[in-house]
Amino acid sequence: MAPTPDPREHHAAGRTRDLVGKPASLIPTPALVVETQALEHNLRLMSGFFAGRHARLRPHFKSHKCVTIARRQIESGNAVGITCAKLSEAEVLAAGGIRDILIANQIVGQDKVARVAELARRCRLAVAVDDESQVRQLSAALAGARARVGVLVEVDIGLARCGVPPGERALEVARAAAAAPGLDFLGVQAYEGHCITVLDPEERRRQVLASMQKAVDTRRLIEASGQPVRVLSGGGTGTYDMTGLMDGVDEIQAGSYALMDHYYAKRRPEFAIALSVITTVISSNGSDHAVLDVGVKGVGADLGPPVLADRPEDVISRFESEEHASVNVVGPPMKVGDRVRLFPSHGCTTCNLHRRLFAVRDGIVEDVWAIEGSGCLD
Ligand SMILES: Cc1ncc(COP(=O)(O)O)c(C=O)c1O
Repeated sequence: MAPTPDPREHHAAGRTRDLVGKPASLIPTPALVVETQALEHNLRLMSGFFAGRHARLRPHFKSHKCVTIARRQIESGNAVGITCAKLSEAEVLAAGGIRDILIANQIVGQDKVARVAELARRCRLAVAVDDESQVRQLSAALAGARARVGVLVEVDIGLARCGVPPGERALEVARAAAAAPGLDFLGVQAYEGHCITVLDPEERRRQVLASMQKAVDTRRLIEASGQPVRVLSGGGTGTYDMTGLMDGVDEIQAGSYALMDHYYAKRRPEFAIALSVITTVISSNGSDHAVLDVGVKGVGADLGPPVLADRPEDVISRFESEEHASVNVVGPPMKVGDRVRLFPSHGCTTCNLHRRLFAVRDGIVEDVWAIEGSGCLD
């Protein structure tokens, strides 16, 4: 794999390296910014929650796609490794020195399983499966590879995405994985993503515990068959303090907590929104209408438009253009050249649009981090 370019070298304006140590007000917009104090608060809070508990964190890379943040998540403690969604993300993580990686997805296709076998030589690698055909493909790719790959059987506990139904079918796939040369059957994966949107925490807890219990029961069924289960991995930012306390759950795959966004902030107010997109007003009528220099090519909008971080009375009135955001100005007028901070609705899809993240502390650019996993889709 080609070495990751230094993000400070390849900024179009050629000024990025020079910005370290300078005021954040000099960063060319639109730009993705992380407030490092807020990030550190979030990492401390999440890793602190798992101190002295059975379950460990396996933070999800898909949220930020930044290897520097992944390393910090591990360094902040109580984490066993990193989760990611895609094989190419796992390759980026391994190149960045992450040694224990779970791809929480099914890997399908001859080219892909060959890459899995190659990657497994460089890190401890596990993948999810939900069918014997995936097990066979993986096992065949590992023949003669001098590497082994861990396997988790994914169980669908209500999200209606990947996964076998809880119970006997999971046991069948687990048996196939346990018998397959080159593979180590590790356990079960289950993601209760259908519950995280529930705003009321008590109602969310009720739904999460009921869903996740299906995964725990499946684990017990596999164990009762004589097949040891080392790991049940699942959970996220919306459920870490629910799923993470359940008997039989070993790993929590939370990712959004590191950077957060305004959608998750309503559900998880204990974490600070560390991620923003700074923009510039490029047009204004001086009263109720202004336009910012960012659109859907710079802010993920799948969970709605961004909000103005420092001007809560103003709203984004149109957010469908590629490079423009229209603001309905209710507060003090906006002038051309003003800088405006936006909180995205969805940090995960926003980070995937950017190549670099400006780390800012007390208004000063502390560093510029590559978003190595940006655009990693395969
Ligand atoms: C497999 C899996 N695990 C965990 C998560 C949790 O992520 P978050 O921290 O964003 O809730 C997700 C989110 O999409 C996921 O797909």
